[in-house]
Amino acid sequence: MKFDMFEFNKIAGAVLFTILIGFGVSELSGILINTGGHQDAVAYPVPDIPESGAVAVVEDTPAVSLATLLANADVAKGEKTFKKCTACHSINEGGANKVGPNLFGVLDSDIAGHDGFSYSADLAAIEGNWTYDALDAFLTKPKDFAAGTKMSFAGIKKDTDRASLILYLRSQGDAEAPLPAE
Ligand code: HEC
Repeated sequence: MKFDMFEFNKIAGAVLFTILIGFGVSELSGILINTGGHQDAVAYPVPDIPESGAVAVVEDTPAVSLATLLANADVAKGEKTFKKCTACHSINEGGANKVGPNLFGVLDSDIAGHDGFSYSADLAAIEGNWTYDALDAFLTKPKDFAAGTKMSFAGIKKDTDRASLILYLRSQGDAEAPLPAE
């Protein structure tokens, strides 16, 4: 009888030990690698809710208009960016044409209209004046604006940099030209 009780205790102890170890391991793995079965129900829904909310906010943000970019543009920054242009362009009044035409007063002037410069056929074929929008499009990627342009320049990618550059171009000519309305 005594012997049987001892055997029973041994078995019961072994079973309890196994349960405790098993529970401990699953708890531990749940904490360490977050794959424990009962953890899933808690671990997934919680980050999902704020994430989808945040994405919705980003999608609702409208692109900033050129008018707003110009209203917040910085002429001094534009003058710095213009250093990328000076190898080919002068911008002082009556300045010489270089690889590209002189750019004094280019805002609102006739596209491909500067005296004494020989433009590409593609730029010369474009009707109209250098509006804010036209300058913005041309300076984003000249070859998208006029495929055969002679201006070998990749473009200015950043919206805010382009707006500041355009504001600088405006300052070298008719600095009082009205800015576009919203
Ligand atoms: C590698 C030389 C080069 C660089 C650098 C360059 N341009 Fe030009 N640019 C030209 C040439 C050449 C033309 C004439 C394009 C044509 O005829 O197709 C031109 C034309 C232009 C025109 C049209 C002028 C008109 O009279 O219609 C504008 C505006 C202009 N460039 C602005 C810029 C600005 C701003 C930069 C600097 C961000 C710049 N360019 C950098 C060579 C250059």
